[in-house]
Amino acid sequence: MIKKGIILAGGMGTRMSPLTKAVNKQLLPIYDKPLIFYPLSILMLAKIKDILIIVNKGQLNQYKKLIPNGDNLGIKISYLEQESPKGLPDAFIIGEKFIGKKNVALILGDNFFYGQNLSKMLINCSKLNRGARVILHKVQKPELFGIAKVNNLKKITTIKEKPQKFFSDLAITGLYFFDNNVVKYAKKLKPSKRGELEITDLLKKYLSSKKLKAEQLGRGGAWLDTGSIEDFYKTTLFVSAIENRQGLKIACIEEIAFLNKWIKKKHIKKAIKFYGNCNYSSYLKKIIT
Ligand code: TTP
Repeated sequence: MIKKGIILAGGMGTRMSPLTKAVNKQLLPIYDKPLIFYPLSILMLAKIKDILIIVNKGQLNQYKKLIPNGDNLGIKISYLEQESPKGLPDAFIIGEKFIGKKNVALILGDNFFYGQNLSKMLINCSKLNRGARVILHKVQKPELFGIAKVNNLKKITTIKEKPQKFFSDLAITGLYFFDNNVVKYAKKLKPSKRGELEITDLLKKYLSSKKLKAEQLGRGGAWLDTGSIEDFYKTTLFVSAIENRQGLKIACIEEIAFLNKWIKKKHIKKAIKFYGNCNYSSYLKKIIT
């Protein structure tokens, strides 16, 4: 079982400069809420209640203003700082103490997931005991992503970073589930040519022992990586279209906590006070009436 999760929410946000010069990317808005709510909601949908958010050195206070701790969500949220963006596997080195002897999920702070059956898939993934599991999603331009090929038993047979020659169009998304070996494996990694620890190298450790499995987010699902300004606004448009059509919010973290029965009405009332008079609060009011 996976009961611990890490959100990697640092990074330079170079592609989004100057927006990211003073404010971290994950605190910028995707439509009506900060980006960080979306990956947080994914871990909560996977029923993960012990969450570590890794932020850039010096940016802790920005985050704590928004999410001081998990009390209002009925979960535990802790923070650690990353000295500099040394690569995704650095999350397991920074988070070693937090992980302890447990298994762990990792989600990148700028990844957006949405779709039918998503919660079911997440709960299924969080049942992992041994090995690793990644979420794959079909993309039009495989040459831009880390790509995997799977056999009919959901096992991954090949992975390649930004392949120039086509062998599969299934991209490895920014959501991963690992057994406890991940800490040991991450510590053994050497920086790549670009000077970072690479997630592909980490996954290859599991691949070589045939312990890397995949779940696919089907065509009814959406995975958007909000790394560039263009992608950021596309995701905003996506969220606004769905929310305004359905009258339901995507990634309303208090709603998820309430539906999971982790919090009571009084916590929602507290959240309404905290956010003040805004649309988000009006939505929260609707949930409890
Ligand atoms: P990236 O997209 O690789 O980097 P970035 O967000 O800093 O953007 P840019 O390439 O424009 O500079 O990172 C993916 C996510 O992981 C993003 O949410 C930031 C986070 N991250 C860290 O927190 N620490 C790291 O060491 C790295 C590499 C990424």
